[in-house]
Amino acid sequence: APGRPFWVGTSWKMNGLPDDARSYAERIAAVDDWHGVLPFVMPPFTVLADVARLLRDSPVQVGGQNMHWDESGSWTGEISAPMLRQCGATMVELGHSERRRHFGETDETVNQKVHAALRHGLTPLVCIGETQAERDGGVSDLVLARQVRLALHGLTAAQAGRVMFAYEPVWAIGEAGRPAPPALVAQAAAGIRQELDRAADAPGASPLLYGGSVNLENAAPYAALADIDGLFVGRAAWTAEGYAALARAA
Ligand code: G3P
Repeated sequence: APGRPFWVGTSWKMNGLPDDARSYAERIAAVDDWHGVLPFVMPPFTVLADVARLLRDSPVQVGGQNMHWDESGSWTGEISAPMLRQCGATMVELGHSERRRHFGETDETVNQKVHAALRHGLTPLVCIGETQAERDGGVSDLVLARQVRLALHGLTAAQAGRVMFAYEPVWAIGEAGRPAPPALVAQAAAGIRQELDRAADAPGASPLLYGGSVNLENAAPYAALADIDGLFVGRAAWTAEGYAALARAA
């Protein structure tokens, strides 16, 4: 949105062996001017500490792609907010549709994780989005509003304003995805923004990003939308050059 801080971030998803991760981080640490863009990267847990260390003196924030709501305990295979913090993360992605679809993430677990993230000083980035069937059935706006409301359940208005959101239509994401038309994103984002403004204490407090097949051609039209405060990129930012180019294009 013109006149407001603009975020450009990437999740590497399940990509990034140590050598590649380090060289990616070194390359973006060397970017000397982000032209006002707020950058962040979300690498896999196995390289998160390394990446965060290499980016410590840069404006690029680092986040986890998921976490558990509990601080510690008998949760085999899970990662907690304090662990992410100690690795140098300042953000955490929650509720990506791949996690909702394949790993049983629900609006309720996302909500518990949002509370835990805020408790431990991590900025949550909550992903929401309708499926193709929901869009065809004409219930997209209802689905999105419900996802926002449940994610923010039990937060104060001040806390709600610290939660970031990414609108990621499920049908627009990943290898089988096709980019959502900007006019459709504008319409969905306006509805989400209304819901966010109802929950937070200041209008426009919660940043709202768009994600789903973002690339160099479509980045600028999304960035121009009034209710969109950033881009959340997968495949097109899996190289440092791709990521830096997208940040410039935005
Ligand atoms: O989290 C960003 C993501 O889901 C979008 O992925 O590869 O469609 O840009 P991609």
